[in-house]
Amino acid sequence: MKNIGEIVNNLKFFFNDIRNIHEIPVGNINRTFVVTLSRKCSDQRDHKPFPRKFVAQLINSKVFTIKAVERNLTAFSSLVNTNQSLNEIIPKYLVYDKKVVSCDNKGNAWKFTEFIEKARCGEFPKSETESYLAARSLAIFHRELSKINIRSFRYSIPNFFVPQIRVKQFFNALKRGNSRRVANVSRHLDQIFCIKEKLEKPIIMMTKQQKFLCHNDTKFENFLIVEKKAYIIDHDVLQPGVIAYDIGDFLRTVCFLENEDKQSEPDIKVDFLRSASEGLNVLSYERCFGVDRELIKLSPAILSFILALRFLTDYLLGDRYFKIKYEDQNLKRGVCQLRRSEILYENRDQIRIR
Ligand SMILES: Nc1ncnc2c1ncn2[C@@H]1O[C@H](COP(=O)(O)OP(=O)(O)OP(=O)(O)O)[C@@H](O)[C@H]1O
Ligand SMILES: [Mg+2]
Repeated sequence: MKNIGEIVNNLKFFFNDIRNIHEIPVGNINRTFVVTLSRKCSDQRDHKPFPRKFVAQLINSKVFTIKAVERNLTAFSSLVNTNQSLNEIIPKYLVYDKKVVSCDNKGNAWKFTEFIEKARCGEFPKSETESYLAARSLAIFHRELSKINIRSFRYSIPNFFVPQIRVKQFFNALKRGNSRRVANVSRHLDQIFCIKEKLEKPIIMMTKQQKFLCHNDTKFENFLIVEKKAYIIDHDVLQPGVIAYDIGDFLRTVCFLENEDKQSEPDIKVDFLRSASEGLNVLSYERCFGVDRELIKLSPAILSFILALRFLTDYLLGDRYFKIKYEDQNLKRGVCQLRRSEILYENRDQIRIR
């Protein structure tokens, strides 16, 4: 479904008066459109003036179990509607037939949210304030979700965080990849073994943590910064998970201000890591979730290491999952993440969580 006319047609079940539509060309998995409406749509209960923008997102059914996303997001959205703290940091979902995921007449699954005006969304923060604001929103998100019983939530991606599987997949790929690529990766094997040895025990500890309702995709890109606050978006993998995973994935993305396939030595912004810690400290993670502080400190290094293995595995198997713009991009991404993992390990004491 490439053509915008076809998209407009498919969206008629929800928006029958589209004045304008354009696609936001980001993301590897879903497709995102900004829709401008002249007047009210199927579910519009507030009284904000029109014309008005909404976000329409096509959920990739090859990646997500749609039924699980539908169930989770519907429960999440009703929680957001009744919880003032979440209301302020989550864009509102539109409801159709009591659900927030709806299928068009071609069977494509969609979700719709209000459009946040004048928001900045980027791969990394521009200032310590931005990293602080995003971290504070994440802590509020965790605090409010910790009150929810995870039993009614389903897995939209099963086996989402099983690092042992990633390690196994990497070593299997090393046996199967083409010889040039295997040789390129093998140059980094000593480094991989060295990181693995340091992180092996904390990784096992992390997988044994108590499960809470987590975001599971907390990279900085999934925060919208608007003046003095940060919204959290992209909730498709909201499901039971590990708090240290959310924190690790977030912190690893707030302190490197360059693209992840950069060749030279990654430059860590320690101040951004500190301001992010401060933002997280609006809540005591140790008291609320019983998460070990040492594990939190190591979590960004763990997340970078696992991501490095995923890039390198994909490189060995022929770039099937991560889109590339040039030959060897996944190798460069993997090598960069390995180095970032080492740097995050060296700087772990900069992360001061209550
Ligand atoms: N409510 C919103 N208001 C304003 N802009 C939004 C909103 N939701 C999403 N966006 C914009 O759309 C982009 C993509 O959104 P989102 O992160 O949900 O999907 P995605 O990252 O493309 O998904 P994936 O990576 O899973 O394919 C964001 O980077 C942001 O620019
Ligand atoms: Mg996203």
